Amino acid sequence: MGIGDHEFGSGLTDLKLSIIADYLHRYNTALSKQPFFERWYFDAFAGTGERTVRLSGSHGDLLSEPVEERIERRRGSARIALDTTPPFHRCIFMEQKKRHWLALEALCTEPQYSSQKAVVVRGDANKAIQDHINSVNWRKTRAVIFLDPYGMNVEWRTLEAIRRTEAIDLWYLVSLSGLYRQATHRGSALDEKKRAALTRMLGTSAWESAWYEEERQGSLLSKLDSEETRRTASLDRMESFVLQRLRDLFPTVLEPLRLRNDRNAPMFSLFFAMSNPSPAAARVAKPIAQHILEKARARR
Ligand SMILES: C[S@@+](CC[C@H](N)C(=O)[O-])C[C@H]1O[C@@H](n2cnc3c(N)ncnc32)[C@H](O)[C@@H]1O
Repeated sequence: MGIGDHEFGSGLTDLKLSIIADYLHRYNTALSKQPFFERWYFDAFAGTGERTVRLSGSHGDLLSEPVEERIERRRGSARIALDTTPPFHRCIFMEQKKRHWLALEALCTEPQYSSQKAVVVRGDANKAIQDHINSVNWRKTRAVIFLDPYGMNVEWRTLEAIRRTEAIDLWYLVSLSGLYRQATHRGSALDEKKRAALTRMLGTSAWESAWYEEERQGSLLSKLDSEETRRTASLDRMESFVLQRLRDLFPTVLEPLRLRNDRNAPMFSLFFAMSNPSPAAARVAKPIAQHILEKARARR
């Protein structure tokens, strides 16, 4: 693989990125009418700026010609942000993997982006956000942050730091398959690592009593009667738990968009939240996000 090669996703990635592209354009258009504010974009799990999509070929038959497998390079979220019109005043890309941050640094120096202030922060995005995001002058800055991890890498404390800015709109891709994997069906299979991962992401250990119920094993007469817990929460209930947690933290959180893979299995929920409690801010950004999410629901 080359430095910029980053193969991931499918139809759901196209949908997710088209939502982000649409929001960034509409957000900057709306905010450009308030020139007092600088517009910033944060991409905390930024990738490389590109993605590689493998389009499978076919052998052909009586009615159709054979088609060769094709590899296509498409824009990732970092390039989408840099291409946004009107542009952002500053783009901050965070990335932990060396090959990816090198690709992002090369992307930022492409001549067409030379007038933009684009920087790459190497290392763990949770740490960078928790340590630095509240040192920005948020009185004159408004921002969008995109949290697009592979799994359950976003810590609750990162969301708390974002909330404290009162100036950032958040798009957060929550991994349902990650939740499902960590919250095992049998409670006895929940080890300390899985418990810690869920609690770090959800900011509470209350998920365990909300999702698990005791189940008595053995017969009434048996002396070896033992207790086991079992997850009774469905995917809907687990998603609602996340929604409620976000609603406890952020003043505005929209109903998430469920994203499915090519075999129709639910993989992620895409959440939109606003940290700004002002009704004026909600009047600008909320209808834009609502419209985009409704359009995406109608497309499915
Ligand atoms: C799903 S990809 C992001 C794709 C990107 N949004 C795009 O559209 O091109 C997730 C990225 O997060 C990076 N990553 C994982 N854990 C991280 C962390 N703790 N801090 C920063 N980056 C991280 C991975 O190396 C990977 O490049």
